[in-house]
Amino acid sequence: MTAFSTKWYKITDSIEALKFAENNIAVAEINSKKICIARYKTGYFAFAYKCPHAGGILADGYIDALGNIVCPVHRYKFSIANGRNVSGEGYHLKHWPVEVRNNELYVAIDEANSFWNEAKD
Ligand code: FES
Repeated sequence: MTAFSTKWYKITDSIEALKFAENNIAVAEINSKKICIARYKTGYFAFAYKCPHAGGILADGYIDALGNIVCPVHRYKFSIANGRNVSGEGYHLKHWPVEVRNNELYVAIDEANSFWNEAKD
């Protein structure tokens, strides 16, 4: 039997309290680790703060018209919905489910994932 260790973390008591930059990305923290929260069309998306290619700060990138985060360093593109490297370099962006409940925003983290056990930023 598989042991699941997914846990929902409340990011904010109120969506309006999230500080979205002009690029529609806010930076949040879970367990002292930064993540990006993006708003795109009517939804919210959570993905890694750093680019899987060479660590570019994705919060400084932009979201294109198709819902891809474009890294500010080498312009690789990743779907914010599924992490796919749509520009084709073969990387994968870590991303997590998001839920809005009564205007509170939650992100689901699989704590078995090594990402959360790496050194904190
Ligand atoms: S560091 Fe993001 S594309 Fe290279």
